[in-house]
Amino acid sequence: MSGQVSYSSEACKLPIYQFKKELVKAVKDNIFLVVTGETGSGKTTQLPQYLYHAGLSKGGKIVVTQPRRVAAITVAQRVSQEMGLRLGDEVGYQVRFDDCTSKNTMIKYVTDGCMLREILADPVLTQYSVVILDEAHERSLNTDILIGLLKKTKGASHGRSVPLKVVVMSATLETEKLSAFLGHCPVFSIPGRTFPVTEKFLNLIGPKDTESSLYIKEVVKVALDVHTNERAGDILVFLTGQSEIQKACDMLFQKAEAIDYRYDVNDSSVEGLLILPLYGAMPTDQQKQIFQPPPEGIRKCVVATNIAATSLTINGIKYIVDSGFVKQLNHSPRVGMDILEVVPISKSEAQQRAGRAGRTSAGKCFRIYSKDFWEKCMPEYTIPEIQRTSLTAVILTLKCLGVHDVIRFPYLDRPEERLILTALKQLYQYDAIDRRGQVTSLGKLMVEFPLHPGLTRALLKAAALECEDLMLPVAAMLSVENIFIRPGQPETQKEAEQKHRQIASEAGSCNDFAMLLNVFEKCKASDSPSAWCRENWIHWRAVKSALSVDTQLRVILHRLKQQGVIEKEKWDSNRSEVFRRCLCLGYFTNVARRSIGKSFCTMDGHGSTVHIHPSSVLFGMESQLDWVIFHDVLATSRMFVRTVCPIRYDWVKDLLPKLHEVDVYELSSVAREEVTEEEVAKWESREAAKRQAESSEDASK
Ligand code: CDP
Ligand code: MG
Repeated sequence: MSGQVSYSSEACKLPIYQFKKELVKAVKDNIFLVVTGETGSGKTTQLPQYLYHAGLSKGGKIVVTQPRRVAAITVAQRVSQEMGLRLGDEVGYQVRFDDCTSKNTMIKYVTDGCMLREILADPVLTQYSVVILDEAHERSLNTDILIGLLKKTKGASHGRSVPLKVVVMSATLETEKLSAFLGHCPVFSIPGRTFPVTEKFLNLIGPKDTESSLYIKEVVKVALDVHTNERAGDILVFLTGQSEIQKACDMLFQKAEAIDYRYDVNDSSVEGLLILPLYGAMPTDQQKQIFQPPPEGIRKCVVATNIAATSLTINGIKYIVDSGFVKQLNHSPRVGMDILEVVPISKSEAQQRAGRAGRTSAGKCFRIYSKDFWEKCMPEYTIPEIQRTSLTAVILTLKCLGVHDVIRFPYLDRPEERLILTALKQLYQYDAIDRRGQVTSLGKLMVEFPLHPGLTRALLKAAALECEDLMLPVAAMLSVENIFIRPGQPETQKEAEQKHRQIASEAGSCNDFAMLLNVFEKCKASDSPSAWCRENWIHWRAVKSALSVDTQLRVILHRLKQQGVIEKEKWDSNRSEVFRRCLCLGYFTNVARRSIGKSFCTMDGHGSTVHIHPSSVLFGMESQLDWVIFHDVLATSRMFVRTVCPIRYDWVKDLLPKLHEVDVYELSSVAREEVTEEEVAKWESREAAKRQAESSEDASK
């Protein structure tokens, strides 16, 4: 087989190509192998092909994990194209809610989240011969957990005829640490050639300028300066998220139109600017365009999230414009919740971004921030996700995999015990685990759904009450990104807002969840849903994905119903109220009560002050509200809660005490599995005494 395989001239030029034979041998000879090489050296696209052509997929598929969904999809597209195959045949991908594989698939790109779910279904991964954990340097939560799990199973030799091969790929550093963690396995380094990148601090923003309008304005200005002053070569702009990118692209379009190429542009070979956005939730056909070389004389300017830092390599980039910020989900101990916030990137991240300009020739990196910002605000390294976000879903998965001692699990970097305890506490609050840390029957059902445990709980309750038709679309709509189009220009912005308010007013009950449901139903019922979306400033593609997610969640729910594991219940209220009460079961951890003026105070013991986000249909109606639940928190100038629903205190009254029922000490015993029957009995009698004392205190008031 291997003798006849020919690679394209482009593929032969990649640094990895010279090491094809040695790499295949290294994979054959070892259970664990770490492969490192500069971004763009060909690890992700080439190594799986080498292994496939060397016959390694004969004993099972080759699976490659990616922390990012977009990367899994675009890389699979690229590889199938390189091999001259139809996507979904021998080469395919599988990401949450989108499976593009067949029984012929031999090389499969998946998200690390999907891989975790596969391990849940089949712990020894019988289908696979090689697992490649890619982008390990990104330190995503799921990849970190996968490394720990595969280390534990040591190639999963039990229950398999041939041990599973595990390759961990990383773009930078830390390979020693990875190797040591995996029993000092060999490290294969692909030497890369890079060109010098000159770096310039432009001093345009300081440490406090996290307001998006500020840094968007500056990156746009700098990108245009580069376009008019610098020699030919493409530009890559790093921004924070989809809406910021769209705004920047709108501004760039407008300003680029005013350029007179006869006088304004230094390099006479540059005759135009092609502006392309790149972010996670982008339609895949648009993503493909990013990789294509621009037409002759045209300069390409890609405005991207961090995804372009290591996951995707765009050829031809010569100039980087770095905003210095990234949007990150962080667990805030002060607030007690995960909040989405814009934070300065780390120095290593900034270097990685700059490096994207020096792949094929010397490049330039323009940093809009100051040297002072670099020194005072940017940490040396990015903190691994496992040490900064909620572990609730992952801990439930581990427990379902039989890893009960979640504190002593082999973590590459141990999360603070506090984060593990918070996760256990939340699982206990959702009734997913019991006091001894054992997964309950509800917990076992919850793990079946690729959703946040809270949302799953709401969905399961809705199913028991036979109103899943209301909850499934909401769960689906919350699983896709950005339903509502919020244009940058003031006039169009007003029109969009008006349309959105109109849909909200037709939703029956005034809350953001009902609004999502209404959009979903209107689309489903419409003869031309895409036209309806266009008219109403809704992203049709997002709703289209939600329609497919809804179907897939329905399939899971249907299977569980057939198994008879969902017991029917009946509540004495109307459907709309049942729906909101079900939501409370999943979101009672996110309850807030109005305090002063328009502000609300969270009820989780932290008492944080939050405000309703301007995107909510309840924005401006604060004075009429008392208790609310919310889906998530966004921190910008203030702490904003998004996707909000008014509730009655009665609906959460019995749930709220659960937030304070177990203390950290109890849970640490739970976590360590050292708690005995006796201890539980002791704890219960202490709790009973406490309650009695409280009730007599109440009575005496
Ligand atoms: O994984 P690593 O960063 O080492 O490199 P890679 O992603 O395998 O990329 C190798 C080459 O393929 C680069 O020149 C990329 O620009 C190219 N590529 C592409 O053109 N289109 C894609 N969808 C993915 C990679
Ligand atoms: Mg790669």
